[in-house]
Amino acid sequence: MTRKTHRIAVLPGDGIGKETVPEGLRVLDAAARRFGFDLELSHFDWSCETYAQTGKMMPEDGLDQLAKSDSVFLGAVGWPGVPDHISLWGLLIPIRRGFDQYISLRPCKLMPGARTPLADRTPADIDFYVVRENTEGEYSSTGGKMFPGTEREFVTQDSVFTRVGVDRVLKYAFELAMTRPRRKLTSATKSNGITFTMPYWDERFAEMAKNYPGVTTDQFHIDILCAHFVQHPDWFDVVVGSNLFGDILSDLGPAVAGSIGIAPSANINPEKKFPSMFEPVHGSAPDIAGKWICNPIGQIWSGAMMLEHLGEKAAADCIVKAIETLLAEGGPRTRDMGGNAGTVDVGKALAEAVSQG
Ligand code: NAI
Ligand code: MG
Repeated sequence: MTRKTHRIAVLPGDGIGKETVPEGLRVLDAAARRFGFDLELSHFDWSCETYAQTGKMMPEDGLDQLAKSDSVFLGAVGWPGVPDHISLWGLLIPIRRGFDQYISLRPCKLMPGARTPLADRTPADIDFYVVRENTEGEYSSTGGKMFPGTEREFVTQDSVFTRVGVDRVLKYAFELAMTRPRRKLTSATKSNGITFTMPYWDERFAEMAKNYPGVTTDQFHIDILCAHFVQHPDWFDVVVGSNLFGDILSDLGPAVAGSIGIAPSANINPEKKFPSMFEPVHGSAPDIAGKWICNPIGQIWSGAMMLEHLGEKAAADCIVKAIETLLAEGGPRTRDMGGNAGTVDVGKALAEAVSQG
């Protein structure tokens, strides 16, 4: 059998991205050796420093360069001195939109030893995924402003829900639910207040559900759904939402699951027509950057999600298991988790565990 080679574009970005990405690569390398595949890395130093030097976050042909890879492994982007909308719209958004990464996926899983802000909850209670539509919906570019500066001044912003766009995110969510033991899918809606797009979302959800009789479904309006995330996190298995509702839920979900330092995320083009991108939920953390004390687990877990997307499920599971074991058995942990280990200590411990796992 020939060994598989996966081509990875590596973008550490700014701040602690430069500290977490090397640890992510350390663990990925251990997984590749252990499970018998190769990783061909291409390194890109695009960041706010690039912007300071060139006036652009990435070169004109940046996406073409990345398109040669199977996946993008990203640290974090953003640094004081460069407005956040410039770093976001100059690098992250072009990648997400240009590569039609229409799924944003975030596991919300309480790891042993992580401190959930919810009282009396254990890892058995919090283990679900948020699936967010990532390309259309409420975050459209249609609308405008008229009669500016006058009494008649008004602004509009249209929501755009296409059948293709809605159906494909719902299908992804149902397929994901099928792979989970509970096989349950919850839809975020607001069809009582938003009277065209949300009833349409509900209609397509009901239609798609007919293809998946094995999946139990329910739906909640977004306001009470947020309350349920806090009061009954154990109700959820897979939760799907539009761009706006998914955005809210995908920050709330990791928050109920504890430290921002361990939360991973994926921006996925499921058809693999374009590379998908894997990145921790956290940003560049300028307040602790350069001290090598940041938690690399969000980055490492994002690497596991990348391997799963690339078809290396056993390797991905091994990394997640290593994280769970390290946290449960009192392995090295960084300050945000109550320990005093450095970034590299945690990375090395996990790489070691994966090599032996
Ligand atoms: P942040 O996530 O960088 O930091 C928030 C707080 O969490 C800070 O106190 C930080 O020290 C802590 N923290 C974050 N990651 C940690 C880790 N791995 N280990 C230990 N502690 C950690 O969010 P903030 O401060 O709002 O944004 C900083 C910069 O990052 C901004 O320029 C922002 O635009 C950018 N950002 C980029 C994101 C991305 O690349 N996807 C996501 C979020 C923010
Ligand atoms: Mg957000």
